[in-house]
Amino acid sequence: MKLYFAPLQGYTDHLYRSIHNKVAGGIDTYLSPFLRCDGGKVRNKDLRDIAPENNEGLDLVPQVIAADTDELAPLLDIVEQAGYNRVDLNLGCPFPLQTGRGRGAAALTHPDRIERMMQELQRRTRLKVSVKMRSGLTDPSEGLAAIEVLNHFKLEHIAIHPRLGVQQYKGLPDREAFSRLKEASRHPIVYNGDIASLEDIDEIVRLFPDLSGIMIGRGLLARPTLAREWRDGRPLDNTERLAASLEMHRRLYDTALQTLQGDQQILARMQTFWEYQKPLIDKKVYKRLMKTTSLRNYEEAVRSLA
Ligand SMILES: Cc1cc2nc3c(=O)[nH]c(=O)nc-3n(C[C@H](O)[C@H](O)[C@H](O)COP(=O)(O)O)c2cc1C
Repeated sequence: MKLYFAPLQGYTDHLYRSIHNKVAGGIDTYLSPFLRCDGGKVRNKDLRDIAPENNEGLDLVPQVIAADTDELAPLLDIVEQAGYNRVDLNLGCPFPLQTGRGRGAAALTHPDRIERMMQELQRRTRLKVSVKMRSGLTDPSEGLAAIEVLNHFKLEHIAIHPRLGVQQYKGLPDREAFSRLKEASRHPIVYNGDIASLEDIDEIVRLFPDLSGIMIGRGLLARPTLAREWRDGRPLDNTERLAASLEMHRRLYDTALQTLQGDQQILARMQTFWEYQKPLIDKKVYKRLMKTTSLRNYEEAVRSLA
């Protein structure tokens, strides 16, 4: 069973991924947050994020998001020029900024566009392709229609997050919809959605023993050692987990101090590190970490955790 770190825009940048890989580990493959082409341009920040020199020592698959082939082609050029032979296509993003442009989960409502994008991907014979999708935008029939199109193409796997785009993160993942999509697909399937504990991983493995992998996002932000713990078959207690988080924090903070400018930028970056780890730390300290506007105050709060 392969374990994937799901892409999380604003959280799992190259710095986080590298540090996670060194300190917590347990992950087979990381996905980059999606690259996009807005007004014919790709952000330099996103190019730096997938640059191989910034991703040394870990297995990275760059992800792209596009509404159709004209947006997709320049992104694939970039991925190929950076030296990658794999790419992941995002058919799941529910954020209105992307769906409003026909991308992500909205692309699920246009099987013709998915077909054209897959043809463009297939034309690039060096690229191995995977897809990450939701079960639909407004209805699970959309996911099924997409699966039928995808069945005509060669894919490494399809990662399915069984929520509809319009749900965003509300409700529970729909395991029945997942099961139907899995049965309809001729491709290896990866499960994604709401995995937060070793028991959650075990349950998915028990329910769907023929999966090719499990992809975890927010669960790993909250508990960076989750994949390692499951691989080792040894859960860590809160003290051990906090120690791993503090070690990740130390490395992330040192790099943030060296590479980011201004206290506000540094604090904003560090606050995203703690955001999902709220349950692990003292409430008052958490509040202080998230509210402070001074580095000195922030550092004191972190020291009080050790
Ligand atoms: C803040 C945030 C950013 C995300 N960015 C991406 C992204 O760039 N690409 C993508 O495919 N999914 C993205 N996702 C979705 C996650 O990869 C994942 O599919 C989703 O959170 C469900 O899995 P989880 O419950 O394990 O987190 C994002 C989710 C969140 C909350």
